Amino acid sequence: MQDLAIYPGSFDPVTNGHADIVRRGLTVFDRILVAVLENPKKAPLFTTKERVAMIRNVFKGRKEVEVMSFSGLLVEFAKARGTNTVIRGLRAISDFEYEFQMALMNRQLAPHMETLFMMPSQEFSFLSSNLVKEVFMLGGSVRNLVPELVERKLREKSGNKAGFKSR
Ligand SMILES: Nc1ncnc2c1ncn2[C@@H]1O[C@H](COP(=O)(O)OP(=O)(O)OP(=O)(O)O)[C@@H](O)[C@H]1O
Ligand SMILES: [Mg+2]
Repeated sequence: MQDLAIYPGSFDPVTNGHADIVRRGLTVFDRILVAVLENPKKAPLFTTKERVAMIRNVFKGRKEVEVMSFSGLLVEFAKARGTNTVIRGLRAISDFEYEFQMALMNRQLAPHMETLFMMPSQEFSFLSSNLVKEVFMLGGSVRNLVPELVERKLREKSGNKAGFKSR
């Protein structure tokens, strides 16, 4: 048994669905390390620093939630942090195939690595960072989908970034 699990993702930006998974993870593990992937292939809306800062802010005062960024192989980063357990969220159907592939690939790379899947509350089952960005860009409300701080940051971005519809 381990007291630490790693929860990796892009978190561009963190949503209430991600927060729900962290909260659920903490019912099983003492500590969760939220690991923000620095992926040079993806062009994120928020920089890695911004994404890390937003998650830290959302879990401010919660010592059991740590937030770090990483690049390269997840299994290497997990090993370096001293955990063999990866938590992933599983939403309605769509996630299954990709997650299945990733979990088995990670097992291939590191046989002791285990991936645990957690299902979010039903209200977040169809929520993704991409959808949040899309809805926000089109002028829709994302109020109950992301933490208040994230909504504010989205508004800031839309103020100084082309591509966002002015509101
Ligand atoms: N609403 C949600 N409920 C449960 N798990 C989620 C939710 N959103 C994301 N996750 C899970 O969190 C992990 C990190 O996901 P990721 O950072 O890719 O977020 P995402 O919302 O899928 O973003 P994107 O839309 O950019 O792919 C993955 O395991 C993903 O399945
Ligand atoms: Mg995703």
